[in-house]
Amino acid sequence: MKLTRLLASAGLLASAVVVLHGTTAAAAPTRYEAETAPATCTGTIDSNHAGFSGSGFCNGNNAVGAAAQFTVSASAAGSATLGVRFANGTTTSRPASVIVNGTTVQTASFEGTGAWTTWVTKTLTVSANAGSNTIRFSPTTANGLPNVDFLDVEVAGNPQPGNAMATVAAMQPGWNLGNSLDSTGSDETSWGNPRITQALVTNVRAQGFKSIRIPVTWGQHQGPGPSYTIEAAYLNRVREVVDWALAADLYVLVNIHHDSWQWVANMPGDRTNVLARFDAIWTQVAATFRTSSAKLLFESINEPQFTGGSGDAQNAALLHELNTSFHRIVRQSGGNNATRLLVLPTLHTSADQPRIDELLSTFTTLNDPNLVATVHFYGFWPFSVNVAGYTTFNAEVQQDLTGSFDRVANAFISRNIPVIIGEYGLLGFDRHTGTVEQGEKLKFFEYLGYYARTKRITTMLWDNGQHFGRTSFQWSDPELFAQIRSSWTTRSGTASTDQIFNLRSSAITGKTVTLNLNGTSFLGVRQGSTDLAAGSDYTIQGSQLTFTASALTRLSGSRNYGVNAMVNVRFSQGVTWRINIITYDPPVVQNTSGSTGSFAIPTTFRGDALATMEARYADGSNAGPHNWTSFKEFDVAFAPSYGSNTITLTSAFFNEVNNGQRVTLTFHFWSGTRVTYFVTESGTSVTGTTS
Ligand code: GCU
Ligand code: CA
Repeated sequence: MKLTRLLASAGLLASAVVVLHGTTAAAAPTRYEAETAPATCTGTIDSNHAGFSGSGFCNGNNAVGAAAQFTVSASAAGSATLGVRFANGTTTSRPASVIVNGTTVQTASFEGTGAWTTWVTKTLTVSANAGSNTIRFSPTTANGLPNVDFLDVEVAGNPQPGNAMATVAAMQPGWNLGNSLDSTGSDETSWGNPRITQALVTNVRAQGFKSIRIPVTWGQHQGPGPSYTIEAAYLNRVREVVDWALAADLYVLVNIHHDSWQWVANMPGDRTNVLARFDAIWTQVAATFRTSSAKLLFESINEPQFTGGSGDAQNAALLHELNTSFHRIVRQSGGNNATRLLVLPTLHTSADQPRIDELLSTFTTLNDPNLVATVHFYGFWPFSVNVAGYTTFNAEVQQDLTGSFDRVANAFISRNIPVIIGEYGLLGFDRHTGTVEQGEKLKFFEYLGYYARTKRITTMLWDNGQHFGRTSFQWSDPELFAQIRSSWTTRSGTASTDQIFNLRSSAITGKTVTLNLNGTSFLGVRQGSTDLAAGSDYTIQGSQLTFTASALTRLSGSRNYGVNAMVNVRFSQGVTWRINIITYDPPVVQNTSGSTGSFAIPTTFRGDALATMEARYADGSNAGPHNWTSFKEFDVAFAPSYGSNTITLTSAFFNEVNNGQRVTLTFHFWSGTRVTYFVTESGTSVTGTTS
């Protein structure tokens, strides 16, 4: 299944033959000796243990951080295969951070090799920039590094056939052409997006994306069984878009998309017909693209799910049947399909361990080196939709991300099975991009890009039209895209908040935010192109950035409610962190009446912004939908409107509120202010009062 190879050490007297999971590339790599500048060694260059190449090796000091660093050049940006040759004559591993261009991208464990004269080469894959790159091995334990002989570097310009890991690495980053050919209506415009143009595809490439996922829903363009013929015009249209993408030098991923819940989900009760129809699609699609470039990949089915079955075991068996049937049909169709990369999802494209284990067993059965695993990632659900009070990118949200990425990396990437996160984003984006607060959103994407990179996972942004303009070719939120794009190559500093609130009704005091340096260092603060003055405008102590009262007073100007100024915190790497300087007073709500279908609380926001809302009955029990939590879902149960000075409670909220029982609402504002309000539903009438 895996491209496991026996790599004999390139050394002269190597006695050990080490099994390495890795891929060798056909072209000769470039060798950088550890003893040759500009390589650096925090220790001495020694030559007392035979078998090294060149004139010596780096014997690093036995200490944390005593690094060996190489400066290597890459002809093009892309995946670089590193071969680091080392000897460790002890029986203890000597792990080291692999730091590429200042960012820790992974940890390498340099195991004992048996003797100081036994040199072995460890293979690692990292992303390199075009031009010069620094690759630093920085030991994380007091034992320091092993002795380091050289670094071989090969940049995958054109991926070698059969090297699935390198190909998928070259697909990073990816973008989804969502809500177009996957629309379930009569044609690709039926979900509100304009017809796809070649200009769109070339502009996607110009944004830096290397791959495009083109989700396709087929069912409404398919004739009846037994042939289930796909309309020729539709198949031609899909081919036209795929060909545009290939011509734009994009890797392309085509799938069966919403068919998954539309009819494939019926497989438990209608196995024969569903399988026949599924097979018919892949038979026709495989024939259509038989000679297409190897840069086209097929994904068996989007977000597989089943209804009416007996549970997990049956679902897993059915998905296995779909995946293996897809695999057999495509492989048997020959041509480039014989070795085309095929992408197989977990059930629900979930990263839960049982789902991963199920898919892994399918990979074991198929035993094919040209397979890719895929899952989707929309973040910790309560954060992703803003429910249950998860308004911030907190430790739990972060752990959900690292846990998911670790699980797929441990299961697949450690076996040289590449992983594509075929969709990522925040679920709240389906309503509007303000469901999650801007700074918290940016922290999520900063971390997602970073962590996927360290795990060598290829990521594809889900975009159903709300991000990249389909005809304007502009980002609706350039700041968000700048953060996402930056995360592909480096970390950025962030902070505990992007909002500093100053009460208008009292004198301005100094305010402190905590910086998340994320491995960067703090450089300063700017307003526009003007530097704030260290000392008089702000002070920095460790990660605590304190703005002085005088700076905040100056920045607040005439202290109108709302954002008076924006400053940008600058770090040694990545994008800046914007902080809004805001003047506010506690918001004021007023008595009103309305109906369960239309209820808007008159609200004077006075510069503040709503984070979340709690709803409880008089006895303290939770009211409204999701009654396992007092904190309701933003934009679903309630929604602020800063333009019309209201907070709306929706019919979805009142549908799950007990008639005649007074509900206490607590509005939580970003300033920290809490405002209490009361609503009572009587039939379809609702009264709202402040006391
Ligand atoms: C021995 C060995 C060195 C090595 C060192 C270490 O001294 O000769 O080459 O670097 O152990 O433990 O790091
Ligand atoms: Ca040493």
